[in-house]
Parts: sequence; structure tokens; C-alpha cells
Amino acid sequence: MAEAVTTREELIKLLNEDLAREYQAIIAYVVYSQALKGAEYMNIAAELEVHAGEELQHAITIARHIDYLGGMPTGTALPVTLSEDAEVMLRADLDNENDTVRNYRERLAQCEALQEYAIAEDIREILRQEQEHQIDLATALGENVPDVSRPRGKARKKR
Ligand SMILES: [Fe+2]
Ligand SMILES: [Fe+2]
Repeated sequence: MAEAVTTREELIKLLNEDLAREYQAIIAYVVYSQALKGAEYMNIAAELEVHAGEELQHAITIARHIDYLGGMPTGTALPVTLSEDAEVMLRADLDNENDTVRNYRERLAQCEALQEYAIAEDIREILRQEQEHQIDLATALGENVPDVSRPRGKARKKR
């Protein structure tokens, strides 16, 4: 279950955390797409460059909704892991995407609970792209996409 959000102020605060994560993603993808070395990583490097542009669009969308709610979009990014090691870079990206997906799933439920359906709709589309980023990174690392769903209580009853 998503943590309950009852006020616009709480939602603004959480969306600003999302925005700080989007800035982090933009910076990481700009740096990693250019710094990845090695023939085996050229495909994913090109892919990361595409991700950078998508993250910028996400940041603009989230900032627009923060402004719509009456808040001030943050100017601060979460810190970016810098490394010369391709695997460390890809692992950092995947960890961040996992965190992002987990958070947007919560945000979606929270927006709907506040009847902010238009914001929820945009977050749904962002979430779809973040899951594609997860897949691209997990594939580059030769892994399955990790299960980031929250532990749930009882399993749903069968009908
Ligand atoms: Fe994003
Ligand atoms: Fe992403």
C-alpha cells in the first residue's frame, strides 16, 4: 500500500523528491552515455542517450504539475554515482530506476486518492517509460528485471 497522502502540500513535497530523482537520472544518462567505453557497450550507450532525453521530458512534466499544485519545483538533483567502470555505471542506473519505479507506483495511487487524475495519467506514462529503462539496463547487465513490488498482505482471493 502506498503511504497515505492527504494534502496537496504532501503531494508537492513527494513530487519534488521525484523531480530531484529525474534530475539525477538526466545527469547520470548524459555522463554515462558518453563515458561508457568498450565495443560491447556501444548499443547501450546509444540507448542511454535516448534515456537522457526522456528523463528531461519527465522532469518538465513533474515540474509542471508541482507548479499547477501551487508549489515551487526544486532546483536540486540527488547525487550521481561517478565511475569509469561500465558495470558500476549500469548498476547505479538500474538501482535508481528501480527506486524510481517503486516511487511512481506509490505516487500514482496517491494522486488517484486525491482525485488528481490528470497528474496520475501523466505519471502512468512516465512509469511505462521507466520500466522500459529498467529492462534496457537489466538486459545490458545480462539480468532479469528485479521485482520491485512491495510485499503485500494476503494474496488476493480466487473467485
Ligand atoms: Fe524519468
Ligand atoms: Fe528512467
